[in-house]
Amino acid sequence: MQILSYLVYLVASILFIFGIKKLGSPKTARQGNFLSALGMFLAVVITLFDQRVLTFEYIIIGVIIGSAIGAFMALKVPMTGMPQMVGLLNGFGGGASALVAFAEYYHILNVNKPLDAATSITLVLSVLIGAVTFTGSFIAFGKLQGFVTGKVVKYPLQNPINVLLLLAVIVAGVFVVMEPSSEDLLIGILIVSLILGVLLVLPIGGADMPVAISLLNSYSGLAASMTGFVLQNNMLIIAGALVGASGIILTLIMCRVMNRSLMNVVLGGWADAGSGGAGSGDGPQGDAKSVDAEELAMILDSAQNVVIVPGYGMAVTQAQHAVRDLTNILEKKNINVRFAIHPVAGRMPGHMNVLLAEAQVSYDKLFALEDINDDFPNVDVALIVGANDVVNPAARHDQNSPIYGMPILNVDYAKTVVVNKRSLNVGYAGIQNELFFYPNTLMFFGSAKEAINKLVNELKEL
Ligand code: TAP
Repeated sequence: MQILSYLVYLVASILFIFGIKKLGSPKTARQGNFLSALGMFLAVVITLFDQRVLTFEYIIIGVIIGSAIGAFMALKVPMTGMPQMVGLLNGFGGGASALVAFAEYYHILNVNKPLDAATSITLVLSVLIGAVTFTGSFIAFGKLQGFVTGKVVKYPLQNPINVLLLLAVIVAGVFVVMEPSSEDLLIGILIVSLILGVLLVLPIGGADMPVAISLLNSYSGLAASMTGFVLQNNMLIIAGALVGASGIILTLIMCRVMNRSLMNVVLGGWADAGSGGAGSGDGPQGDAKSVDAEELAMILDSAQNVVIVPGYGMAVTQAQHAVRDLTNILEKKNINVRFAIHPVAGRMPGHMNVLLAEAQVSYDKLFALEDINDDFPNVDVALIVGANDVVNPAARHDQNSPIYGMPILNVDYAKTVVVNKRSLNVGYAGIQNELFFYPNTLMFFGSAKEAINKLVNELKEL
């Protein structure tokens, strides 16, 4: 039986690795998701045959309640609420790892089994990382959902306090390793780690929050991996390591495209970025020229080369279908339409790709920032649909801007820039966008779905 379970774990691990690989492209993502889910199904089923399963009643109750909540969330949570949902699920993952490690600890103590150094080290790490992930994820969820302030929270001696708490956990951890029966110390580690989770995530704010979610995702994987060592379960070690590694890779990619260092994000550097700071809304003012659907239809009708830049506003209104209709009608008029996708447009990685794929926009029309940016001078109309920060030219030249250094889509180099949004309000980073006041920019005010549908109707009349 053990050999069979090792074999199934091996197959499941291979399925996870291929699944993750296939998730890297929208074309193969569904297949990747299926392979990973199949791997998880196999792993769970074979684990249920484990000799150590004493009763199936609780497992069945857990499966029913968990599946019902999961299905409800999957159906009800809007696409724009995904980051906080992922945050919440990370938290449960971390909490579960810490609980399982604790349960195994008590089991080992009860049966008077010796606790070797490797197991106790991973036990302490599992409790530490799992508990930090648990409370940290709940704070991240609260910030994104608006229950907790989304701004950077700073207080005196913040970093020294965090370092002190971490040191206390490490010292207590060393004692637990030396004297494994020190149950009170392990509970102390749990409590301090829960506090650390809150303190570590509170300072992160503004546009750094999706990065924090991704980092917590990585932590939840590490916690699971550590628990895998405690339970001596290879599957958990491998699955946790995969989540930990992919989470940290994604975190670093996000930091790179936002021109931030991981340390700066973790220490709440968003507040220090730029003199105005995030959320100030200070910035260029002036007269922005606006255009209505009828005029814009005429401008587009005479264009040859159009690039659409989708952003968070498209996601909020689910305007991707209207955008697809716009693409179709422009193409019927022999106008070349492409999409420029910024790596952090929207609120989660691949956000725009997923929405456009759902609306059946073909992948070969989607261009990454580095593949299209040099071509903007040849573009007749750059049409921005609900994007803001990712097209803010201040990132190129204003050293005081919180987004200074972040690569942006150079839409302002296009002959005409049209920005569709509801107002001149700021985006996620909380800073004004000078693009709205550029001489070649026209504001096309309105909620994305409604506005683009109106535009499509006007184009049909031409
Ligand atoms: P944002 O800069 O957040 O701007 C979105 C704009 O959409 C807002 O200015 C808003 O303007 C507009 N909007 C809201 N509702 C709308 C509606 N119904 N119709 C039309 N427009 C609407 O979005 P972005 O350009 O996509 O940038 C993403 C931000 O998230 C960046 O700051 C980025 O750094 C941050 N971030 C993203 C990620 C990932 S992985 N995606 C990771 C880390 C950070 P109005 O209110 O005037 O309509």
